[in-house]
Amino acid sequence: MKYLTVYSSKTGNTQMIAEAIHQIMPDGSEIYPVQQAPAPDGYDFIAVGGWVDKGMPDKLTADYMQRIQGKTVGIFMTLGAYPDSDHARDSMQKAEELLKGNTVCGTFICQGKVDPKLIEMMQKMTQDNPDHPHAMDEERKGRLAEAAKHPNEQDCQNAAQKFTEIIAAL
Ligand SMILES: Cc1cc2nc3c(=O)[nH]c(=O)nc-3n(C[C@H](O)[C@H](O)[C@H](O)COP(=O)(O)O)c2cc1C
Repeated sequence: MKYLTVYSSKTGNTQMIAEAIHQIMPDGSEIYPVQQAPAPDGYDFIAVGGWVDKGMPDKLTADYMQRIQGKTVGIFMTLGAYPDSDHARDSMQKAEELLKGNTVCGTFICQGKVDPKLIEMMQKMTQDNPDHPHAMDEERKGRLAEAAKHPNEQDCQNAAQKFTEIIAAL
């Protein structure tokens, strides 16, 4: 069996999770950022992951997912929203749809700190419009404050545990 981990990460959150997953992969497994990833064809199991951008996997991840066909895969993602939210579930479902034609053996998603530049931009964009869907209300501030603590050591352990189980069941 040949094992591959491929990830996309703009600010390092998803990279942390990818590295935690790679650590529990069998000896000889490979890990690449998506920009340098080999074609998926030569591998038997692929852990593929990215960050959530506008409710779906970021474009680099989405493009790579669509190149995978007839494989056994596990998906991991990070996002600003809570991992048990509908938004997280919908985002993961979009990833699974991009991987149709493959066997998805398991998924993992956790929060990841949101780029302060994006937060500042949202603040400016919505400050005069409290009804804006991205307005900085108390709920959003609380969610962003929680996201700022992730991924943490527990998230990395949870991701490693999930992929240990996936691989044991192959
Ligand atoms: C342009 C942009 C769009 C984003 N869109 C979403 C989104 O739709 N939903 C969400 O929950 N988080 C969103 N986020 C937050 C990221 O998914 C989150 O911070 C992620 O952990 C970043 O991962 P990275 O550090 O690996 O790049 C967005 C972040 C950026 C920069």
